[in-house]
Amino acid sequence: MIPRIKIVQESLGSSFGEGATITSPTNINNCKIGNKVTISPFCNIYGCEIEDDVFIGPFTEIQAGVKVGRGSRIQSHSFVASGAEIGEDCFWGHGAISCNDKHPKANNKNWKCEKLIIGNSVSIGSGAILFPVLVGDGAVIGAGAVVLRDVEAGATVVGNPARKVFKNVPGYLARSMTATLKG
Ligand SMILES: CC(C)(COP(=O)(O)OP(=O)(O)OC[C@H]1O[C@@H](n2cnc3c(N)ncnc32)[C@H](O)[C@@H]1OP(=O)(O)O)[C@@H](O)C(=O)NCCC(=O)NCCS
Repeated sequence: MIPRIKIVQESLGSSFGEGATITSPTNINNCKIGNKVTISPFCNIYGCEIEDDVFIGPFTEIQAGVKVGRGSRIQSHSFVASGAEIGEDCFWGHGAISCNDKHPKANNKNWKCEKLIIGNSVSIGSGAILFPVLVGDGAVIGAGAVVLRDVEAGATVVGNPARKVFKNVPGYLARSMTATLKG
């Protein structure tokens, strides 16, 4: 069934793929929305590209120029700032936020949008804050982490500032036992 809101939104410059489900009230302007995308109520989404099978939870804002890759899930109360590119099958936890300006000022005529690039199958915990960095494929970002530096593929980072959890790196146990014996 085509939701009634689709007609309104297309007049605001958006295109919608087959089977997209948009629940009113929500604001979608000038977006390219893929097939089977679900957008929950109370979102503000503009000028961005949302690929197939993406889920967007309620009370989420996604700014202009953002790309959300196929199969990704943006949980409720999130903010995805301009400059973010999210890969495929990523999990963006509740209330996670990205920022595109490391040194914000109220009035800055020289402001340039800084980029946040997120690979595929990345998991971002609730309430994380992501600065303009690169996050490699399969990385895990802990709940509440403040990510100031690039995260390598497959790494788990936690805390403020976010640091790698070595516990989960293959070979950790063997290395830590050797260190204990030496100590
Ligand atoms: C990061 C995470 C995946 C790590 O889980 P894990 O691999 O099971 O790791 P552990 O619980 O063994 O923790 C490893 C270490 O990191 C610390 N740690 C784990 N998560 C942390 C977090 N979010 N912030 C700060 N430190 C954290 C632990 O205290 C532990 O430290 P220690 O080795 O000094 O004791 C998990 O804790 C997390 O934050 N998941 C996100 C949950 C979430 O937001 N879900 C959203 C949907 S509800």
